[in-house]
Amino acid sequence: MNTPMIKAVRVHRYGGPEELKLEQISRPNPLAGEVLIRIYAAGILPYDWKYRQGRFESIRPAKFPYIPGSSFAGIIEEVGADVTEFRKGEAVFGRSDNGTYAEYTTAAAKGLFLKPEGLTFDEAVTIPGSALPAWLTLFHDSGLKPGQKVLIHAAAGGFGTFAAQFAKWKGAYVIGTCSTNNVELVHTLGANHVIDYTSERFEQSVSDVDLVIDTVGGNTLERSWSVVRQGGILLSIVEELSLEKAKARGVNVIKPGINSMPSPEELQEISQQIAQMIVEGQIESVINKKFPLHAVQQAHELSQTGHGRGRIVLQIAD
Ligand SMILES: NC(=O)c1ccc[n+]([C@@H]2O[C@H](COP(=O)([O-])OP(=O)(O)OC[C@H]3O[C@@H](n4cnc5c(N)ncnc54)[C@H](OP(=O)(O)O)[C@@H]3O)[C@@H](O)[C@H]2O)c1
Repeated sequence: MNTPMIKAVRVHRYGGPEELKLEQISRPNPLAGEVLIRIYAAGILPYDWKYRQGRFESIRPAKFPYIPGSSFAGIIEEVGADVTEFRKGEAVFGRSDNGTYAEYTTAAAKGLFLKPEGLTFDEAVTIPGSALPAWLTLFHDSGLKPGQKVLIHAAAGGFGTFAAQFAKWKGAYVIGTCSTNNVELVHTLGANHVIDYTSERFEQSVSDVDLVIDTVGGNTLERSWSVVRQGGILLSIVEELSLEKAKARGVNVIKPGINSMPSPEELQEISQQIAQMIVEGQIESVINKKFPLHAVQQAHELSQTGHGRGRIVLQIAD
């Protein structure tokens, strides 16, 4: 039998957005323990273009050609041997190691989540790449408690929009930073105090913070040390923090993922809870812009600006 051909974006060498090539390839087959998924939506994460530029070559060199992307939402087309927990036709979301900027991908059945009916594919795809990491960072890594004061840098970003809403839901006092265009959005996400970083230095109005979540790094991270209270936490998802500095300042630094080793069952529970919160309108999955697969270069160009509101999504089927 002839293997069907599918459209997929592939990268043949490190470089700029022009290296994202839309090609016809053979549809993959699920191995034992895997499922074949028809992808409806794929998330564009900053990691995807950083990887395409070759920034992670020393730690995770690419095997060319590769299909970019890791987060997806779609429908199971076929189940591989030994898969008992999912069936053909079920709508799911999750992450794949085999690339998701394509009409089909294969993924380990173990890490998949069932998509509730009221959740769109676009909303679902924001969970594995953005909402889930934000939840784990706030509640598993940092142990955020009601009443605490949290400063979230880049509160308008794919990660930050979820982090701000989860922190508010938990009962924290939320301070968010963003540019002028996004001030209103960050207010509507529930932030108690929004700082426009283009016109105000956050350290002039913020102090004694229990927890700072940094997703910007550089100068923003450097200036954040002074606003954390003694015994408070500084956590960056983009840079390593100096332990000597932390000791000298009486601040705790936490490496993301260090305290968060949820079991697969816990991850299922958290993902379903987040999905339900979106369906019920308790939180919003903020989607910046949707692009068709053939416009993937423009999608990466937009993500690479480092400015925007919420997640960028590739809409592959509807
Ligand atoms: N998504 C994840 O789970 C994850 C995990 C690990 C690491 N990271 C890293 O974390 C970073 C952010 O990820 P993301 O997915 O949220 O990116 P994103 O969706 O591209 O959002 C970037 C945000 O940064 C804001 N920003 C830029 N400069 C700023 C500044 N000086 N102060 C405050 N906000 C600023 C922008 O807001 P304005 O448009 O208002 O400027 C924009 O909303 C990336 O470097 C990513 O690689 C993400």
